Amino acid sequence: MNKALRKAVIAGNWKMNKTRPEAKELIEAMKPLVADAGCEVVICVPYTNLETALSLTEGTNIKVGAENCHFEKSGAFTGEISADMLTEMGVEYVIIGHSERRQYFGETDETVNKRTKAALAAGLKPIVCVGELLWERECNITEEVVGRQIKLDFFDVSAEDMKKCVIAYEPVWAIGTGKTATTEQAEEVCAFIREKLAALYGKEVADAVSIQYGGSMNAGNAAELLAKENIDGGLIGGASLKAPDFATIVKAAG
Ligand code: PGA
Repeated sequence: MNKALRKAVIAGNWKMNKTRPEAKELIEAMKPLVADAGCEVVICVPYTNLETALSLTEGTNIKVGAENCHFEKSGAFTGEISADMLTEMGVEYVIIGHSERRQYFGETDETVNKRTKAALAAGLKPIVCVGELLWERECNITEEVVGRQIKLDFFDVSAEDMKKCVIAYEPVWAIGTGKTATTEQAEEVCAFIREKLAALYGKEVADAVSIQYGGSMNAGNAAELLAKENIDGGLIGGASLKAPDFATIVKAAG
């Protein structure tokens, strides 16, 4: 069983939620509940909460991530944050290419690829999001869409760097909608992603990469999803904003 070789990664994606006092409250509540986790625990928070998250999680098993980073090192990019700025703070992870970035902020596979490479060059671990729209699933082209995203988003990423990446499979129709993909649907696409990685990088790399499921994963459905051979973790939106729910998901990951 190759699943045993991979460390499960449970990452919260806070999105545009929580002021600093609210972030402090959530992290303090979360800390004791996840202290004995057997998986990697990550919270990806808004930029304004990074400093708070880093100082409150110091010496704990909780890792901190950002929700995006720009692909240039520095320059005239008003409103953007570079990967180096994150690394310098002590941030370890960064979400790249979330469907909300693709949908609302014009993110394309090309910019996702550039951001992924910039994150890797700065020493960050990218959590790269892929997934199909409902319309694409209905048209029966899920594998075509996700396969293309894997190929383009990781274009020119070396095998060694690929092993530092986490892939989040998030069917867009399941995000924030309360509609979870069935465990079979989620496993099917995660297995497909691993096959695609094997074709591009070989089996050793494909076996080493953690693939998360994301999209309405919650305290009630996490255990069943995480038991699947190719689902190594979760990217959790709504349920990561409630400490007990997030902790239940973390426990389900072992
Ligand atoms: P959700 O979000 O858990 O609220 O569906 C997941 C995500 O967008 O990463």
